[in-house]
Amino acid sequence: MQLSDCTPTEREALEALGRRIGPELVAQRLRREGMRAPAPRLSHRLMRAGLRLSGLRGRGRRNVLDIQVRHNEVRLERLPAGFDGFTLLHVSDPHLDMDAEFQRHLIERLQGLVFDACVLTGDFRFHGFGPYQGVLDALQVLRPHLGEQVHAVLGNHDTLRMVPGMEARGFPVLMNESVPVRRGTDTIVLAGIDDAHYFRTHDLHRALAGVQRDSCVVLLSHTPEPYRLAEHAGVQLMLSGHTHGGQICLPGGIPVFTETPAPRAFVRGAWRYRSLAGYTSVGCGSSVVDVRLNCLPELTLHRLRRA
Ligand SMILES: [Fe+2]
Repeated sequence: MQLSDCTPTEREALEALGRRIGPELVAQRLRREGMRAPAPRLSHRLMRAGLRLSGLRGRGRRNVLDIQVRHNEVRLERLPAGFDGFTLLHVSDPHLDMDAEFQRHLIERLQGLVFDACVLTGDFRFHGFGPYQGVLDALQVLRPHLGEQVHAVLGNHDTLRMVPGMEARGFPVLMNESVPVRRGTDTIVLAGIDDAHYFRTHDLHRALAGVQRDSCVVLLSHTPEPYRLAEHAGVQLMLSGHTHGGQICLPGGIPVFTETPAPRAFVRGAWRYRSLAGYTSVGCGSSVVDVRLNCLPELTLHRLRRA
């Protein structure tokens, strides 16, 4: 796919986006999106059949709607005093167009949560191909429940063509970019990179251009895979998703598949790599099949504390 394959409205919006994030990134992203195979893989069909035959599909579908709220306190050496106690709501992998019932449950679960800003780490769409208007409609309904400050990155299920519509609906997307987050006279940096799993269009160097080395940087990355890059770049905290924690797990939460080459220690929950603190959400939605076993979906509240 290239710009000339887009509708005139999409083309105009993507050209404007290219002036911000670079026309090379737009061209590269669209080209790789065009290489995606729309046909479901045989392994996915076999998985669905296996779940039906084993009688686990009913329980797995109920689990999909049983969204947990998890709390993660994380201590950061460079956190300015004014941010001690600052809380980030982390929403990952909602795959919003899966069905309307899931959207209702997600909004119900968000009620009453207390947080200072919301970050979303990608995979808004159920399939990795096809239409995206349904996702934009669902995001619009979700937006009033996420507070004033919201920032997002795209995942491997998302098309770049969603970005203008997301931003028009109050979801600024960090495409290898960073923004300052201020609290009183103190500032931290929120950076976001594009998908490093499938599209490999992430550019952390570009995202951190102009950021002082001693800043407290929180990085949004759909997948935990670039954890080494993040640590080398001096990132303090990296928030990710993508893995679904396996989604369909053996008893004890042991994943069968993780959809990532990252080490197993990095595929769910809090982890650490040298000076980098990290957290990989198991996601609040589901993909491939609307089933979760031994791995309930989650929303995460990260409370930042000074080390
Ligand atoms: Fe993903």
